[in-house]
Amino acid sequence: MRIVSGIQPTGNLHLGNYLGAIRNWVRMQDQVASEGGDCLFFLADLHAISMPHVPADLTANTRAMTAALVACGIDPDRSTLFNQARVPAHAELQWLLNGTARIGWLNRMTQFKDKSGKNREGASAALYTYPVLQAADVLLYQATHVPVGEDQKQHLELARDIAQKFNNDYASAEDPVFTLPEPIIPPDAARIMSLRDGSAKMSKSDPSDMSRINLTDDADTMMQKVKKAKTDPEPLPSEAAGLEGRPEARNLVGIYATLADSSTDAVLQQFGGQGFGAFKPALGELLVERLAPINARFVALKDDQTALDAILDKGADKARALAKPTLDTTYKVLGLCR
Ligand code: TRP
Repeated sequence: MRIVSGIQPTGNLHLGNYLGAIRNWVRMQDQVASEGGDCLFFLADLHAISMPHVPADLTANTRAMTAALVACGIDPDRSTLFNQARVPAHAELQWLLNGTARIGWLNRMTQFKDKSGKNREGASAALYTYPVLQAADVLLYQATHVPVGEDQKQHLELARDIAQKFNNDYASAEDPVFTLPEPIIPPDAARIMSLRDGSAKMSKSDPSDMSRINLTDDADTMMQKVKKAKTDPEPLPSEAAGLEGRPEARNLVGIYATLADSSTDAVLQQFGGQGFGAFKPALGELLVERLAPINARFVALKDDQTALDAILDKGADKARALAKPTLDTTYKVLGLCR
């Protein structure tokens, strides 16, 4: 089993990133590494230049996100943790796969349509070919499984299409060049919504900081945010069906259940009939208990540029070695002399 996944280095992590993605990465690392598999996790800094960006911020965000991942439990000794820019094979393989990816396939990508909006002509070519780079990210390492959010499913399908066509065109059925990766999509319960609007995803781009819990928030701030979270006046129901039409209540109960490794029903058994005046402090305490150790590790590491660069250098060395055989074969089967 080889797990590969990436995350864009967009400033600080929040609870949604943690519970939706990173905590699963940590669990996979703990499981897969003990079974002799590999985990590769990387900062998708090459993807970040597909949108307008400030270079100094990208550098700072890449380091900050590295610190956050380590603080959350990604262990650079057991996982391969790096940023794409340190491993040129990502960009090289993207170019090689551009010969296989079809314009028609890219035209169907919903993320490109969403991100380019009305200004499609003014979007960067990188935004358009973003999914080919993402395919290169996973095919380069013969990934068997790729943990991603629901919104990335289409990109993973494209990676499989590219791999299949490439294998078909340039390899024999007995000796394919690329492994077809399977997505691992977390259950719906792991979707963490805004604290101000239960129908919007928790997001770093929401203008209100009260809408999200940041991994950098101290205990008081977290507690305040939970207490001010939007709710309704009804007490909590005693079973999940009673959360129908109550997105804010559903979200807070979901956060509690996810943090406690429990289920919505079990949480409602405990809190059903009680009001938010009782539930919110309990949720706040659980949140602080789970996030305080992460916060402490993050604060200790975030400004240690030397340590962070050493982690990324070491990860990139490992990644380059793992990438080499596949990259060499790809050049070779395409007839490129080097
Ligand atoms: N596009 C992904 C996102 O925005 C990040 C990403 C880049 C990725 N390359 C990847 C995820 C490869 C999984 C595998 O979330």
